[in-house]
Amino acid sequence: MEGPTGHVPVLLREVVGLLAPAGRRVIVDCTVGLGGHSEALLSQAGGQSRLIGLDVDEANLVLARSRLNPFGDRVRLFQANFTELPEVLAQAGVDRVDALLADLGVASTQLDDPERGLSFLADGPLDMRMDPRRTTTAADLVNRLGEAELADLIYNFSDERFSRRIARAIVEARRSGPFRRTGQLATVVAGAYPRAVWATRTGVHPATRTFQALRIAVNEELACLDTLLALIPEVLAVGGRAGVISFHSLEDRRVKRAFADLAASGQAEGLTKKPLTAGDEERQTNPRSRSAKLRGIERRNPT
Ligand SMILES: C[S@@+](CC[C@H](N)C(=O)[O-])C[C@H]1O[C@@H](n2cnc3c(N)ncnc32)[C@H](O)[C@@H]1O
Repeated sequence: MEGPTGHVPVLLREVVGLLAPAGRRVIVDCTVGLGGHSEALLSQAGGQSRLIGLDVDEANLVLARSRLNPFGDRVRLFQANFTELPEVLAQAGVDRVDALLADLGVASTQLDDPERGLSFLADGPLDMRMDPRRTTTAADLVNRLGEAELADLIYNFSDERFSRRIARAIVEARRSGPFRRTGQLATVVAGAYPRAVWATRTGVHPATRTFQALRIAVNEELACLDTLLALIPEVLAVGGRAGVISFHSLEDRRVKRAFADLAASGQAEGLTKKPLTAGDEERQTNPRSRSAKLRGIERRNPT
């Protein structure tokens, strides 16, 4: 199910199977994006259900709004961070959620737009903010952080083993002027990579991990995820289900631990002993799906 501008939702069948939307009154899509998952959930849910969708990205909300238009007033969309979920629910007049989805990370529309500065493949401003209301850009971090701080950021948010060499090369390069463009940064990072290593890494650009780390830092993605994971048991109705799709181990580790803690305390039951992942066909047709992991829980009454 391809969206209006080519973002293909990952693990669509698995999400619908896990959240079992039929008959659920209130569905929340914390990362509505282009509305692919929302559309599938609403189609299965039945006329009594409504969907509340959140996204920080106004441009994606415009696309989602047009895609979800056929569902009329069953849909309400908010430009909000999912850390603001309680405020959004209050505004929508809802106190309990019956199904909740978070599909983390970036949408293809964001990656493919050079003006967002998220991709090393197309030159653009070194920005990386998914939420234009944020004030710190990737250029701010790259130009202002000290060498050790920069190396730690790159290592901690991407496990990049050449983080120290990369940070040194960045600090050296910015002596002749600040970084402003993604292309500039990608070139410097590639130059810092040992040639022998680059030759053995087929198909993976040396700047991949550095760009991921900066994106996570600019958007405070891990802190936002921790807040969401703490909110899930507060907003979910007993019998309600939540699913989170993560795209790298830093995220998946957090989801796994939070859901295991809820199960251990009797507040929820795990629905996925192992995370659900894409099958061969989806992996071939949608490369984004290759790293996707879906975990789920059902809210229980603690005894
Ligand atoms: C992978 S896309 C979601 C795609 C969507 N499931 C679909 O089917 O089209 C992730 C979306 O989450 C949004 N996003 C990322 N972090 C967010 C946050 N903390 N709060 C709200 N939205 C966020 C991004 O702007 C992006 O549109």
